[in-house]
Amino acid sequence: MTQIDPTPHLLPRHIAIIMDGNGRWAQRRGLPRIEGHRRGVKSVREIVETCADLGIEQLTLYCLSSENWKRPEAELSRLMSLLEQYLIEDRSTIMRQGLRFAAIGRREGLTPGVIKELNRTLELSRNNTGMRLCLALNYGARSEIADAAKAIAEKVAAGELQPSEINEEVFAQHLYTADMPDPDLLIRTAGEMRLSNYLLWQISYAELWVTEKCWPEFRKPDLMQALRAFASRDRRFGGLKVS
Ligand code: IPE
Ligand code: IPE
Ligand code: MG
Repeated sequence: MTQIDPTPHLLPRHIAIIMDGNGRWAQRRGLPRIEGHRRGVKSVREIVETCADLGIEQLTLYCLSSENWKRPEAELSRLMSLLEQYLIEDRSTIMRQGLRFAAIGRREGLTPGVIKELNRTLELSRNNTGMRLCLALNYGARSEIADAAKAIAEKVAAGELQPSEINEEVFAQHLYTADMPDPDLLIRTAGEMRLSNYLLWQISYAELWVTEKCWPEFRKPDLMQALRAFASRDRRFGGLKVS
């Protein structure tokens, strides 16, 4: 591992994280899975604060996928309570840190309590100018892409858009992430080498970094390690190495 500290121009603008391994972390300790989710909130706090301090422009956290509804009802309802509690408890911290809050994904399925607290934080933080903290909730990249295609088709049918005008920029503007920069760095905890339907359009050129550590044990030193790895990558975007 190199010891260089990430210098500002080598920092990612946007970091996206697949926070995985909460259940395994708990089960290995003989604890119920929900304990892993609860401990995961501590990691969220530390990573949000560190990214904001470093001047990262956006942090997008995968909190619940559209496929996670396959889980037992009891785990889902505890996850909803935990999320609602986080939104209430961390609102003052989010405001103190000047974070701009955002959420991507479908609202259906989220409890009324979660939607209410989400809307409150969105409303309160809308004029903040600090890091954008984006939570992916009931998020699935394929449905996001399908939704964008539907919205574009409706505009074409209404005569507001010509098929010849559809290009990558227009398409991107119809995704949930319209006006957000694409992630430069994608971190996944708990070792799986897959994307699990996360930001498939947006991560085309993101650098991937996977750690064996489970999310509840992922803390500032781990993030710094990922940032050092990112700083040493040679991003070519299909071109040639700049020497
Ligand atoms: C990630 O941890 C959190 C969510 C998907 C909500 P998991 O709950 O997937 O933990 P593992 O992968 O089963 O260990
Ligand atoms: C991805 O983790 C979703 C979140 C972290 C919210 P999963 O645990 O759902 O992913 P798979 O099932 O291992 O692909
Ligand atoms: Mg998992």
